[in-house]
Amino acid sequence: TPGIRPLVAGNWKMNGLRARLGEIKRVADASDALAPNCDLLLCPPATLTYVATTLAQDTALCIGGQDCHPESSGAHTGDVSAAMLADCFATHVIAGHSERRADHGESDDLVRQKAEAAHAAGLIAIVCVGETRFERENGETIAVVGRQLEGSLPVGATARNTVIAYEPVWAIGTGLTPSLEDIGEVHDFLRQRTETLAPGMRLLYGGSVKPDNAGAIMGVANVDGALVGGASLDAGGFLAIAEAT
Ligand code: G3P
Repeated sequence: TPGIRPLVAGNWKMNGLRARLGEIKRVADASDALAPNCDLLLCPPATLTYVATTLAQDTALCIGGQDCHPESSGAHTGDVSAAMLADCFATHVIAGHSERRADHGESDDLVRQKAEAAHAAGLIAIVCVGETRFERENGETIAVVGRQLEGSLPVGATARNTVIAYEPVWAIGTGLTPSLEDIGEVHDFLRQRTETLAPGMRLLYGGSVKPDNAGAIMGVANVDGALVGGASLDAGGFLAIAEAT
């Protein structure tokens, strides 16, 4: 979108041992060359956050978390707070990825609270929305995405502190993607819904983004970047997607 700086983000999900840190280093080393065209973000698992930010220090690569608890500290065994991610120099956190919504029963309201916790800690929240295959086949895509957006968007969202990622559940990790027209329809809707509230908010597409389809998808109106899963585990693939953006 003219005037909006794209963001290419990688979500490593529950992948990444220390042996993979070299990929982060490679992306960090290449990030300054890509910085004139887009922002670059990698979200490794929480165990690697601190070392990842150390590797990315003084480069254009940002490091983020994949989830956060709505509270900043307390008796929540196993959870990670936005304040902890910020303390490790992370700058972003994903909220409401469909895998968290499905695996952990996260509601729109909880996702909104997580995004608000991200803001309170000074992080940029990447709020995810997207329909299932069943919902798409029933013609409910826009209704579902609209409902998720309305329920999950944090109070006080601006184009600076919030990014929306449209990830159709059926396109994640499957090699399937919606048609460019279908992606455009959802992104036009998201733009229209966010424009009065937060003009210029970045709207990412996620779901089977690869180096060979990234250029076409990034060319769709109102697509301002990508949230990449599998293809972000390898520096070469991730950088190729960033170059295509
Ligand atoms: O958050 C990114 C993700 O859900 C997309 O995964 O592997 O289809 O690129 P993938």
